Amino acid sequence: MGLFTTVSILSSDFSAIGDTLREAADAGASMIHWDVMDGHFVPNLTFGPKLIDDFRKKSSLPFDTHLMITSPGDYLDRFLKSSDYLTFHVESVDKPGYLISRIREAGKGAGLSIKPQTPLPLLTPYISDLASVLLMGVEPGFGGQTISDAVYDRLALLVRMRREAGAAFKIVVDGGVHAENAAILRRAGADGVVLGSAFIAAENKKKFIEAVSADK
Ligand code: DX5
Ligand code: ZN
Repeated sequence: MGLFTTVSILSSDFSAIGDTLREAADAGASMIHWDVMDGHFVPNLTFGPKLIDDFRKKSSLPFDTHLMITSPGDYLDRFLKSSDYLTFHVESVDKPGYLISRIREAGKGAGLSIKPQTPLPLLTPYISDLASVLLMGVEPGFGGQTISDAVYDRLALLVRMRREAGAAFKIVVDGGVHAENAAILRRAGADGVVLGSAFIAAENKKKFIEAVSADK
């Protein structure tokens, strides 16, 4: 099976996010990825829940919200409203299990994201309850960075952890993904990828999504 493709709007022109949503759907993307940053957990600021709520009616694709904020629990309900999947950082809270339960109780898919330097075994207690693990290929905060070479070994380890736990979460790589490394990520164990700057830059977006998601 090929990769599923989630388009991040982070690198789009924020005055034309509606166009990016339409382009993503027309190109055959699987999902939309919203990068929420608070200027504290990461050194950058983006937007809050209202923006996502307002664009909910402009797309029929599922929404995955990636919270890069210090206290995700304080804003969970607000972001749950328009998200189909809600992903927060394992580094951002003391008790991820509690937030995962709240997301699941709301009938939404729970995701945990993990930064490139954080040991993967930190995820172990939670993996049976997760819809996805968002494996960062770059330090979170900005689009357009280069993927870390360590991501391939980390993918292999995550696949092993999933097998040993008998868990079923999807593994999604976020940051630095483009048409050339997508097949390598898939072979290393990724189920899906987030596409930010590479999607925006692609001249033919349908061909780009096809190339990334091709089963090869
Ligand atoms: C980075 C974000 C990513 C970002 C990816 O903190 O989490 O989702 O949009 O952008 P690219 O694909 O350009 O690396
Ligand atoms: Zn992201």
